[in-house]
Amino acid sequence: MRQLYLSLSAVLALAASACDQNSSGNVRSNKVGDTSHPATRSSPLTPLRQACNAEGGMLPGASMIARKPYVQQITDRSATIGWVTSAPGGQTVEVTTPQLSASASAPAERDNSVDRALTESQMWSTVTDLEPDTIYCYRVLVNGQPVTQPIGFRTAPSADSPRTIGMLVFGDSGGGGTDQWALRAQMEEVPYELIIHTGDVAYETGTLDQYEANVFDIYADLFRHIPFFPAAGNHDYHTAAAKPFQEVFKLPENGGAEKYYSYDWGRVHFAALDTEDDYKKQMAWLDQDMAASTAPWKVVYMHRPPYSSGSHGSDTNLRTLLAPLVKKHGIQLIFAGHDHDYERMKLDVDGRQYITTGGGGRGTYPVGTSSFTAFSSEVIHYVYVEFGVDEAIIHAIDGTGVEFDSAVVAR
Ligand SMILES: [Fe+2]
Repeated sequence: MRQLYLSLSAVLALAASACDQNSSGNVRSNKVGDTSHPATRSSPLTPLRQACNAEGGMLPGASMIARKPYVQQITDRSATIGWVTSAPGGQTVEVTTPQLSASASAPAERDNSVDRALTESQMWSTVTDLEPDTIYCYRVLVNGQPVTQPIGFRTAPSADSPRTIGMLVFGDSGGGGTDQWALRAQMEEVPYELIIHTGDVAYETGTLDQYEANVFDIYADLFRHIPFFPAAGNHDYHTAAAKPFQEVFKLPENGGAEKYYSYDWGRVHFAALDTEDDYKKQMAWLDQDMAASTAPWKVVYMHRPPYSSGSHGSDTNLRTLLAPLVKKHGIQLIFAGHDHDYERMKLDVDGRQYITTGGGGRGTYPVGTSSFTAFSSEVIHYVYVEFGVDEAIIHAIDGTGVEFDSAVVAR
């Protein structure tokens, strides 16, 4: 009996330590903020799957595909598709409309940032001359034969499109634990068209294996249809100064080495910063980048938070440098992570909204309040934003699907 008791204890201790490593957060918020603007629910994937009449699965003959295809940079005119293969020869991407009325294709090129055997090739293919705000289907072909079913994606709207744009943002996500999976399940409940991430994408140390197990294995069904634009976090830097991060994502190169960059999605201009790199250099770049944009909505996101009442607290060096640019360029929304909680700041004197969203699945930590706090909660969550023409509505949704906070930000 004593033997049995000891072995049960050992099992429970092992389970507890596994939980410590992977998840230990509050999946449901125990606090409620502003719930006056509930999001309309629908899956972001359903129209993309239905248009191409397939789940986007792999076909016989796909044995060389080691990481399933995923969309990366999508613009209003082009789409970049990535995958990993053990045999890089003869691979192309073909894009068609769902009615097969038009098609385009482009060869794939190998682009490994990390030194590794040629048996693991990171491939990228960019298809151009697409139409804005249009659903297309793509397939990967090897020597002319498709190895995937058609997979649906939507190009970005044009800059003058007035339609509502849905965006998902979360951070500090990738440990592979139960919290991450709980939130993942909720990611099919609101209709966004792109995903941004506030850093610490792959715990514990941002290795290629951790990107595989804690990122691609978990989000594969999202990533094959919807583009993902992450900022790098300190954990992503723990391996080879974030070379695996650079390899597995193909991000814009208009800033620094795919780790700070900007892009447009319709009438929203986004800039991602790298809070592991020099701030002054990036602020000079951001100043020029924002000055060159005529987009009516501007968003900046990064890992370390300019404002936070969590355990890491505010990065005041960053705040001192960033706040004048936020004011100068009319940047309406600023997202950060690093503290594993949700915190919505009071609108600053210019009506700008700072939010810390670091509860993407890697546990939570207690968060307090400060003079700048409008609402804070220690909770696993994501933030879903709807950009209208004159206002953006922010929805904070926990790992059980409950919307526990919302806010409206004027343009
Ligand atoms: Fe972090």
